[in-house]
Amino acid sequence: MIKGCIFDLDGVVVDTARYHFLAWKRLADQLGFIFTEEDNERLKGVSRMASLEILLSVGGMHPDNQKKQEMAILKNQWYLEYIDKMTPDEILPGVTSFLELLKSAGIKTALGTASKNAWTILNHIGLSNIFDSVVDGNRVTNAKPDPEVFLLAAADLKLNPDECLVFEDAVAGVEAAIKGGMKCIGVGSPEVLIKADRVIAGFSHADLDMIEF
Ligand code: BG6
Ligand code: MG
Repeated sequence: MIKGCIFDLDGVVVDTARYHFLAWKRLADQLGFIFTEEDNERLKGVSRMASLEILLSVGGMHPDNQKKQEMAILKNQWYLEYIDKMTPDEILPGVTSFLELLKSAGIKTALGTASKNAWTILNHIGLSNIFDSVVDGNRVTNAKPDPEVFLLAAADLKLNPDECLVFEDAVAGVEAAIKGGMKCIGVGSPEVLIKADRVIAGFSHADLDMIEF
């Protein structure tokens, strides 16, 4: 029986993927190569530095570590410019009411994200008090598809992994949930999230039957 639901942030609670894309593209433009939305798909769920490595491989560039740090800082400054303007209107449809439904049914909730900017986003969208636990990129050492982020969330909720259900939009995140011994509902396309137990398009029609396994 599912006693806890763990939500990824980017692409599940909010659509910040487009802000990540705009900031990475600005970096690629400055470095002088083309970075497409298709390239950006590979960055979903992946940590900031791993994302930079993928971006640099697209451009065929091999800068030293200090340069890479500078690039990551620059990209994050641009990303912060976008997320600092976020409002509660940007919460994806149905998410808030589903979180409230889970709470009223006694199901615990957590956020499990690779992002180091999670608290900034939660504060801007007004969801900083809704989760029983928040595990962000500052608390984990191993990025998805390693299950560390979700195992930490389960431990915070004082639940066993098999009592937890993860909502994820990224292939790496679905793999992390499975490796952690948790059920996983993919949010997005069934053709992409093939390993998920179930796939939903979004939370507009989410109900408690959906989390029965
Ligand atoms: C993930 C996103 O949630 O967080 C990735 O899907 C992003 O695209 C990663 O790179 C790290 O985010 P941040 O905010 O710490 O740069
Ligand atoms: Mg995501």
